[in-house]
Amino acid sequence: MQNFLRGDAANLLSVGKFRLCPKGCVGKIFAYPQCFARRCRRARFRFHMANTILVGMQWGDEGKGKIIDVLTARADIVVRSQGGNNAGHTVIHRGMKYVLHLIPSGILRHRKICVIGNGVVIDPVALVAEMDGLRALAVNINKNLLISDCAHLVLPYHRILDEQRELRRGRIGTTKRGIGPAYGDKAARTGLRVSDLMQPIVFSKKLQAKIIENNRILQALGAKPISFRDVNETYLAAGERLRPFVTNTVVYLHGAMDRGKQILFEGAQGTFLDIDHGTYPYVTSSNTTAGGACTGTGVPPHRMDRVVGVMKAYSTRVGDGALPTEDAQLAQMLHNLGREFGATTGRKRRCGWFDAVATRYAGMINGIDEIAITNLDGLDQVDPIRVCVGYQLHGKRLDVPPCDATQLANCEPVYEEVAGWNTSIHAARKFSQLPPAARKYVRFISELAGAKLSMVSVGPARGETIML
Ligand code: GDP
Ligand code: IMO
Ligand code: MG
Repeated sequence: MQNFLRGDAANLLSVGKFRLCPKGCVGKIFAYPQCFARRCRRARFRFHMANTILVGMQWGDEGKGKIIDVLTARADIVVRSQGGNNAGHTVIHRGMKYVLHLIPSGILRHRKICVIGNGVVIDPVALVAEMDGLRALAVNINKNLLISDCAHLVLPYHRILDEQRELRRGRIGTTKRGIGPAYGDKAARTGLRVSDLMQPIVFSKKLQAKIIENNRILQALGAKPISFRDVNETYLAAGERLRPFVTNTVVYLHGAMDRGKQILFEGAQGTFLDIDHGTYPYVTSSNTTAGGACTGTGVPPHRMDRVVGVMKAYSTRVGDGALPTEDAQLAQMLHNLGREFGATTGRKRRCGWFDAVATRYAGMINGIDEIAITNLDGLDQVDPIRVCVGYQLHGKRLDVPPCDATQLANCEPVYEEVAGWNTSIHAARKFSQLPPAARKYVRFISELAGAKLSMVSVGPARGETIML
């Protein structure tokens, strides 16, 4: 291997098959020698951005879609590893608004491969509708989409069960897309998977048994039973539309990594909606944190090179559960600007001040290397700006969110106030073009969150981004 090293590359430290840059980018940017194949012997070393996991550091809707769209320029493959069509990732490109639910946000860029990994729960009818909707907007979906044969299916009884549970005490405020019941069946080992859908006889047999069982539950809840024949027909038709895209995505991703391709792992939801680390029970049913990118794709932890955390310059949450820094006035101001309405359900998002207790914890759980701050422009007219730096619970100071939902709901935020900038920052494209108060604010909140600031977003479009 050393024989192939020339020039700068000779300085590279060896780390297995990869070489680690000894300059400032140590640990995060890898060089991949293209000299295994004969034709590559003359090729110069190509520097790679490495495999990147992107996660939401708050309660979802942090602007992940926008940041994924920006980062996809430097990736080859974009993968979704968890969640389902409860996600709504907005990308604004050339004045057009795209909301992606199941399809990775990389689909809007040419020559990028998008993968729906094994950890995602797929409603095949919704996925076909999303593909058709994108095609109607002239988005190419052909050989650039792969779907894992191991992904679990969301079926109509999952959706109805989700709706029924939401009518009762202990509601979560879900998106009613059947996500919880589908992951429930997966954990109970009674779920149907994409591989079943690819075998019509097997699928119909399993579906019939599941519908008989679930109809009894639906009837007990007072809901209408569903027709096996209708569901079978609709799902098999959707399955045929999806067949060309279905494959073993684990093998595909490993082959791509061996060819030096860079992968972007597109997290859905946010850290505090994680089934293990979130504000249980007001969470979604998957691991939304960095570890979910491994289990949900079959890419092992040692192939992951960096974790980018996305956080809004303030906090939002849609659905029930505690939002310690919630502030009605801030919410009203943002809603009056036409902002903070859910991309999937259209519900008004609850809004609050930036919560450093939560985001610091998110930094710990996810191992955040770099932070992208979005929606800074949402605070353009706010002065002073409050930042929650601690919680008080029954007279005791807490620096991490408590595990218990009732305790979290009883936490009183401890605020620090910082000066606002009272001007529009939409046009800023360099960090130096931001007003000093805005620079101070983003530095302050990224320091509190405990990671390096690498991007600041000042508007929803691709170009409205400051790279540091
Ligand atoms: P995601 O689920 O994390 O992808 O986020 P959503 O798309 O659900 O919600 C984020 C919202 O903020 C969308 O409407 C985006 O278009 C918008 N957005 C993202 N970044 C910015 C920004 O910096 N400024 C403004 N004004 N809007 C932004
Ligand atoms: P993206 O990927 C914000 C919330 C729901 C509810 C809880 C459980 O766009 O950030 P579920 O339907 O998953 O059983 O609902 O999780 N939720 C989200 N909130 N953004 C999302 O996705 C969400 N996906 C689920 O509102 O509180
Ligand atoms: Mg969203």
